[in-house]
Amino acid sequence: NQGKLWGGRFAGGPSPELEALSRSTHFDWRLTPYDLAGSRAHANALHRAGLLSDADHAELLRGLDVLGERYAAGTLVPDVSDEDVHGALERLLIDEVGAEVGGRLRAGRSRNDQVATLFKMFLRDHARVLSGQVLDLVDALTQQAAAAGDAVMPGRTHLQHAQPVLLAHHLLAHVWPLLRDVDRLADWDARVAADSPYGSGALAGQTLGLDPEAVATELGFTGSSANSIDGTAARDFVAEFAFVTAMVGVDMSRLAEEVILWSTREFDFVTLHDSWSTGSSIMPQKKNPDIAELARGKAGRLIGNVSGLLATLKALPLAYNRDLQEDKEPVFDSVDTLEVLLPAFTGMVATLTFHTERMAELAPQGFSLATDIAEWLVREGTPFRIAHEVAGACVRVCEENGIELHELTDEQFAQINPALTPAVREVLTVEGSVGARTGRGGTAPVRVAEQLAEARERARAL
Ligand code: ARG
Repeated sequence: NQGKLWGGRFAGGPSPELEALSRSTHFDWRLTPYDLAGSRAHANALHRAGLLSDADHAELLRGLDVLGERYAAGTLVPDVSDEDVHGALERLLIDEVGAEVGGRLRAGRSRNDQVATLFKMFLRDHARVLSGQVLDLVDALTQQAAAAGDAVMPGRTHLQHAQPVLLAHHLLAHVWPLLRDVDRLADWDARVAADSPYGSGALAGQTLGLDPEAVATELGFTGSSANSIDGTAARDFVAEFAFVTAMVGVDMSRLAEEVILWSTREFDFVTLHDSWSTGSSIMPQKKNPDIAELARGKAGRLIGNVSGLLATLKALPLAYNRDLQEDKEPVFDSVDTLEVLLPAFTGMVATLTFHTERMAELAPQGFSLATDIAEWLVREGTPFRIAHEVAGACVRVCEENGIELHELTDEQFAQINPALTPAVREVLTVEGSVGARTGRGGTAPVRVAEQLAEARERARAL
């Protein structure tokens, strides 16, 4: 079988059981366009080093182009006897250009430096796709934030009412982590770009005078590996990429969980659009937040993928070991999972209808303005320790009487503490409370408007 890249030292072919175990074409075939690009760059390097005649060089490039066209047309397929994408493409190239010319391409390279390079190229392309998709989600969130205007909601800690905040402020709190995720992908990309493994050979480098820097440039990298062992054995770029995809999933899952809660009858903060929610096969009244639930569930799967990769790498001796072939399926899965999840999630977010009246009604409940009383007292000269006690006493009196803070009478305030003059009422409205939080990053409408502009500017710059 000419698809075998080895065999010289073996008396017989591999057992069918070994072939079945070894085969990876069912998942690595998608690396074909990158393998062909790598082969083109490698053929150019061989030609420049004087190891390929002009005619053989041209013939190899022609053959590679033919394979590329057939792949694009969907007619290039691996054979069951092919071990991996690299072997299959060499066999198919030889079918096209003959063994004499086709057999020259493998000089000075190994599948070990090849696969490390191609996988980087694949992931760099998908990092760009994913960044664009995350920025679409950011866009949907910032549009919702802009549309929310000065609408308020109960801000929570421990899932309990804490202090009123602007709905826009809360939505933007989901934007910043996503912007950092895009930033992480850009950082990752710059690091990966500096390190093209082509030229590392199997582990020790090559003897043929090829120029790895030129190959790197041709493949879109900014530099080549400084250490050929590292070039072939390192997979931290895979684990880091998988971590960022898991982080995106986890960041989405936190909003997903809120959407699920908000759409319950008990919260009643949002209505999901019909096209972005699902029904029940038995309960005709149901409208379910399946997109949010799938986002929450798939975050677990993305975490599993990064955990699995780290387990594969743990204690793996240098340099290449076949264990490393296990790097592809988990990260392909992470890419495929996020690339279908993100557009659906963005559509759900973009079409949410917020019940701002309901949120405004709940915003002051649960004594969420108690901190405002304490801080008002501090501005009037009371030490915070005492102010905290006094505001706490207001809450106690309200609880005893089944009323809210703004329903306390002037007499009740004065009785709790003489410093509580009727002027305290200015902070006992939700508008007064949020309007007073004017420090940078705070929930005052002026600050949130600035924040929205800042988030949009950051998104544009990424
Ligand atoms: N298909 C392998 C991988 O993805 C590359 C082949 C390297 N095989 C070898 N025996 N050195 O890691």
